[in-house]
Amino acid sequence: MFLFVLLPVMIVTGIYKLIVKNNRKSIEGKHVVVTGGSSGIGKAVAVMAAKEGANVTILARNLEKLTEAEEEIKKACINNDQIISKVSVDVSNYEAVENNLCEIEETVAPIYMLINCAGMAICGVVEEYTIADIKKIIDVNYLGTLYPIKAIIPKFKERKEGIVVLTASQVALMGMYGYSVYSSVKFALRGLAESLYQEVKPYGIGVTLSLPPDTDTPGFENENKSKPLETKLLSENGGLHQPETVAKKLLDDALTGKFFSYIGFESFILTTLCVGMSPIMSVFDTILQIIILGPLRAIGCFYINKFDKIILDCYKEKSLTKKSQ
Ligand SMILES: NC(=O)c1ccc[n+]([C@@H]2O[C@H](COP(=O)([O-])OP(=O)(O)OC[C@H]3O[C@@H](n4cnc5c(N)ncnc54)[C@H](OP(=O)(O)O)[C@@H]3O)[C@@H](O)[C@H]2O)c1
Ligand SMILES: *[C@@H]1O[C@H](CO)[C@@H](O)[C@H](O)[C@H]1NC(C)=O
Repeated sequence: MFLFVLLPVMIVTGIYKLIVKNNRKSIEGKHVVVTGGSSGIGKAVAVMAAKEGANVTILARNLEKLTEAEEEIKKACINNDQIISKVSVDVSNYEAVENNLCEIEETVAPIYMLINCAGMAICGVVEEYTIADIKKIIDVNYLGTLYPIKAIIPKFKERKEGIVVLTASQVALMGMYGYSVYSSVKFALRGLAESLYQEVKPYGIGVTLSLPPDTDTPGFENENKSKPLETKLLSENGGLHQPETVAKKLLDDALTGKFFSYIGFESFILTTLCVGMSPIMSVFDTILQIIILGPLRAIGCFYINKFDKIILDCYKEKSLTKKSQ
């Protein structure tokens, strides 16, 4: 009975969605700021924004990497009027972030889009982390996202426009062995994004939470150095994606006003399973969620059991090698 009502509505809205072009906002001539824009996903986003005619400013610490990235972004420009600039700043230092964002608002142009990509991961089981590493992960990923947002939101509200992107991770939706510190900090970004969404919605400001899967970047290479075997085995299923793919989806989703940005069928399943009290995006999505959430929990349980077994096998293997020593 339930399905008889919901399915036709879904089919109609689905067709409507296909026919009516998603009105994607343009960033041509707009000022786009990308933190972590000197490497990996952030650099790919900056290059893509330049290809769309935006004036792009990248923020990161290392000046050499910034200069190299700036050259690459300049090459992607489509007209001679585009302004590409760089700022060397630690995003976890509030005063420095605020001063620099104010300055580029004056010297370049008012900021239209803030894309937070600065971040880093260190893996390990909880007792292995040094306190310094724990603080670093919190500072860069959490404060380093909150601070640029806090600094720019008053201007966005004044102008009644703007788009904010926060880059979390697939482990912002589910905990995973070896990600205790990183995952919990990325969970925090979801709370930030959902709260911010409500705060800025009346002003016409957009908020998007990007949930990248494993992506082939210098940051990922670095993360692998500390990754336990268990974590590698658990995340194997997801495959490895290209930063350009993640960047394109991030821009498309942010510019069409989506709250979550994810890639591929598996991420769609996980995001739907974890939809919780996140903003309502469309009638189509909502009806789909109402229908499939129950069955998805069953699929989720299958994976949880599979994960438990992988971890237990590793544990037994380790106990055996310990005994034989
Ligand atoms: N790659 C993946 O598999 C993956 C998966 C899920 C989520 N993510 C997330 O996606 C984002 C980008 O990751 P990525 O793999 O592209 O990393 P990446 O290649 O290591 O690039 C990180 C960027 O952030 C900058 N950065 C780091 N700490 C900073 C700080 N304190 N202040 C200012 N800038 C800082 C880096 O430049 P400097 O070091 O010079 O400052 C660099 O430009 C991160 O938030 C990451 O957690 C990545
Ligand atoms: C930004 O870029 C466009 C070109 O894409 C240009 O027309 C515009 O005037 C630029 N400058 C400012 C300050 O917005």
